[in-house]
Amino acid sequence: MIKTGIEALSFYTPHRYLKLATLAERQGIDPEKFSRGIGQDKIALPGHDEDIVTMAAEAARPLIDRYGADGIDTVLFATETGIDQSKAAGIYVHQLLGLSPNCRNVELKQACYSATPALQLACSYVARRPDRKVLVIASDVARYDRDSSGEATQGAGAVAMLISAEPKVLEIGAISGLFCEDIMDFWRPNHRRTPLFDGKYSTLRYLNALVEAWRDYQANGGKAYEDFSRFCYHLPFSRMGEKAHRHLAKSAKAPLDMDQALAGMEYNRVVGNAYTASIYLALTSTLENSAEDLAGKSIGLFSYGSGATGEFFDATVVPGYRDHLFTDRHKALLKDRVAVEYDDYVSLWDAPAAQDGAELTLPDEAQGRYRLASINDNKRIYIDKNA
Ligand code: HMG
Repeated sequence: MIKTGIEALSFYTPHRYLKLATLAERQGIDPEKFSRGIGQDKIALPGHDEDIVTMAAEAARPLIDRYGADGIDTVLFATETGIDQSKAAGIYVHQLLGLSPNCRNVELKQACYSATPALQLACSYVARRPDRKVLVIASDVARYDRDSSGEATQGAGAVAMLISAEPKVLEIGAISGLFCEDIMDFWRPNHRRTPLFDGKYSTLRYLNALVEAWRDYQANGGKAYEDFSRFCYHLPFSRMGEKAHRHLAKSAKAPLDMDQALAGMEYNRVVGNAYTASIYLALTSTLENSAEDLAGKSIGLFSYGSGATGEFFDATVVPGYRDHLFTDRHKALLKDRVAVEYDDYVSLWDAPAAQDGAELTLPDEAQGRYRLASINDNKRIYIDKNA
């Protein structure tokens, strides 16, 4: 059977963040509620000239620079914070990256989950066409109402993955465990900028979906719990990953080893929820922050999207994987960010709303190569600063 999986993966997050200690001070609550209670230290904040397109292009650029664009004939863009009801965000990214015009391009949506079916579809495609590659991008801005219980679980970021029949980082297993149920735990009707959610209920449905997906994975002939060296979870906040790992170990009647999940939480603790990108940020964090050489080891992944869907699947780390990571770049990206004061956070949160037909020029703030310069005549104008 042809091996398929992740040739390389790269992430991007904006250069500004809010310390949750600043939010706690403002709300007059114990900062430990955030640092220990939900396991988060910082939330990433996009500028007004950054969005899912600019973050996606920033995440994908290093892949194209290192591996070239040859063979990429498909872009799958996963997001739940789409910028247009019709046009796929990946089309802007395709242009910014200078990909071949002979390319299919589509956007996928199912809350935080849709990058996982994108990855699975991409693996199936390259198994059929091993000479081709797929660019899978997950990009989202998680923004909740201010003073809501979700406020501390905001964040933003993008992960880009090059999927091919020559996986250099991770081979994706063929067996999945699946679960789907119609619930209202978190949703965002078209007329709203921020989601509606039932926070506590959502955490319970997440845990239920994990166990159901795990049972299905076992029923389909998946690996045993003991075969896994690491576990990666969708992380709306890092403590959710701890709860998930404890719940899965109990359900599998296996001894709990929290170290199997902790390396995956390091990046998420300081980025926040990046919805579709969140589990792949956890995967990047696992690969880049595990001191142990993971070559040949199995990683179990659980992807969750409210509404709700869950998928448990496995991946095997390819020997030599460290040569294909962007660890130094990612660590520098996180280290070079700046903290904002509470009032600046409020200004960033209150992104200017585009008015029908009116021109909106956006302040030049993005630190990366790409920015949203304006919305003119209802058209988004993106700039490549290097062009
Ligand atoms: P909350 O009401 O802010 O917090 O809601 P809480 O009062 O439940 O406290 C949270 C934890 O902090 C508790 O621990 C407290 O005991 C502890 P737990 O009971 O969980 O073990 N705590 C403290 N610990 C130390 N020192 C202290 C202290 N005080 C309290 N002083 C909630 C938290 C996560 C519900 C809220 O932030 C929320 O609603 N977030 C948004 C929804 C969400 O993230 N849901 C997650 C599951 S659904 C999902 O993952 C999908 C999603 O990503 C969207 C998608 O799929 O598109 C959201």
